[in-house]
Amino acid sequence: MCGIIGYIGNRNAAPILLEGLKRLEYRGYDSSGIGLIKRKRLAVYKKEGKIAALERTLPKDISGKPGIAHTRWATHGQVNDINAHPHASFDNRVAVVHNGIIDNYAPIKHKLKQDGISFRSETDSEVIANLIARHYQDDPEVAVQNALRQLEGTYGLIVLFTDNPDLLIGARNGSPLIVGVGEKEMLLASDVSAMLAHTKQVFYIEDRETVVLQKDSYKTVNTENSVVDKTIEKIEWELDEIEKGDYHHFMLKEICEQPETIQRAYGGGGRLLPDFGTSKLGGLNLGKQDFFEIDSVITMGMGTAYYAAMIGSYLLEHMARLPCKAERASELRYRNAIVKKNMLFFAVSQSGETLDTLSAMREIQHRGGRVLGICNVVGSTIARESDGGVYIHAGPEIAVASTKAFTSQVTVFLLLAIMIGRMRDIPASLGKRYINELTTIPGKIAFILERKAEIEQLAEKYSKARSFLFLGRGVSYPVAMEGALKLKEVSYIHAEGFSAGDIKHGPIALVNEETPSLFIAVEGETFDKTLGNMEEIKARNGRIITITNSDNERIRELSDDIFVVPETNELLSPLLTVVPLQLFAYFIASILGKDVDQPRNLAKTVTVE
Ligand code: AGP
Ligand code: GLU
Repeated sequence: MCGIIGYIGNRNAAPILLEGLKRLEYRGYDSSGIGLIKRKRLAVYKKEGKIAALERTLPKDISGKPGIAHTRWATHGQVNDINAHPHASFDNRVAVVHNGIIDNYAPIKHKLKQDGISFRSETDSEVIANLIARHYQDDPEVAVQNALRQLEGTYGLIVLFTDNPDLLIGARNGSPLIVGVGEKEMLLASDVSAMLAHTKQVFYIEDRETVVLQKDSYKTVNTENSVVDKTIEKIEWELDEIEKGDYHHFMLKEICEQPETIQRAYGGGGRLLPDFGTSKLGGLNLGKQDFFEIDSVITMGMGTAYYAAMIGSYLLEHMARLPCKAERASELRYRNAIVKKNMLFFAVSQSGETLDTLSAMREIQHRGGRVLGICNVVGSTIARESDGGVYIHAGPEIAVASTKAFTSQVTVFLLLAIMIGRMRDIPASLGKRYINELTTIPGKIAFILERKAEIEQLAEKYSKARSFLFLGRGVSYPVAMEGALKLKEVSYIHAEGFSAGDIKHGPIALVNEETPSLFIAVEGETFDKTLGNMEEIKARNGRIITITNSDNERIRELSDDIFVVPETNELLSPLLTVVPLQLFAYFIASILGKDVDQPRNLAKTVTVE
């Protein structure tokens, strides 16, 4: 959830750690801290609030190495200076930054207290530092491993030893940890963006592995203490991709990148076979023939990725004629799910680290199920542990509110649905139409983006509303849910997405002059029914904002405001209709002066359950 980074090398660690923290801030931002060794003494600086607050408190001449740093998303204990990480042990010999949750911290803390060890913070993480210190005679590695044996829960850890400034130790169970190999220096972080300015050479730590870093060497061991060979991989991202450039916010930058990111998702054409009206996807680890055996599909994810998974299930059912269901991964994991030989599962995750999704995937795999990943971050845990999959190649997504990843996930589902559909139900002519239509989408989004001032005006008009309903049917239903999620995430205005067909069964009670309803009404199967639902709202004096691709006159009469997106096939329409909703949320949040890129209480990558 949080971001952690460690540095060992010849340079002064603080500026590197601070810059790394800023890159990681999107992962957690309620408090932060830095720990350094200077002349064999531990110096720890911690501060509640954003990293800028920590930066203000740091001495100008701060120096020391090696060092560790943390930006927190609190799980145990209030957000304050004391609970911020790093946590030092009772004797100050050990300092730790921790990402995750130690499930059995309470009994360990109780036992340590009985032994006379006093605690400073309310966190679960402080037990790690004290436990390691307790085991620390003269061998740091042994101390960490003995402590880890007693810990249950999830962790990405970096440990600093005050009297041993030549090493840093990292360990992982459930939370990401990546080593960056530089020139006579090493970095260790929860996210590659923290090290991109220093090195592109990385390797990944797996669960239950411990890594010992010196400035010019590394050693990874597993629980049996056997050395694990690591292959160094090159990060593909460029530094300017994780910078805002001319934009005020990453969210707007990422919304505006969608014409290119969608194109990248269909491989700039490389994943399309226009002559055959189908697509080809490497990395699935399934031959075409294997798809004949598949008799049902479950797509899963959380938040925005779940809404993409919902659209994916519509597409696969419609085009590939496969029984298909989308599930929230957090529910699937604990539901004693039925897994059968010919089922296929898709785990959708931008970060590839979301613990709910990762855990559900592992549960399905343990039951013998086959899970394909649809991920953005190359080398992420879901990407590595899935049985195959497709990268969406959207580039780094830094804003906490996911935008470009969503449209790229939907694009990849379209490619899959067209590919499997062409094997079962779709004639070449129709496949070609879908493929051609897909290649027009980037241009159509660019056209929507050119008109973003219209959405800004709408946002001005509605920014004082205290509650919104988002309504759609068919593929527009998940789009409505996504629109509502975007708005509540960044503006803190209450918003709910419903299937437009469902409102008369209860939610319509919420409708009055003050609660606008935002409809997504696209030409196709359910257009007339959606129109009927708009009539129902109007009859109750509800204000209506409509996103549509239709020039139907009645829609105009019913709508207080309307934004028309270019025409497209209904199945591809989410790629267009979601864009005005992303912009609407963005502009309302900006008008209200909210922290658009780092909304309160949230974190980009949710590595706790
Ligand atoms: C999206 O705006 C959210 N911040 C959140 O719902 C997110 O989509 C969810 O946590 C899943 O993340 P993932 O795609 O990295 O797995
Ligand atoms: N559980 C720890 C805490 O509450 C770590 C949380 C995090 O990952 O930021 O401090």
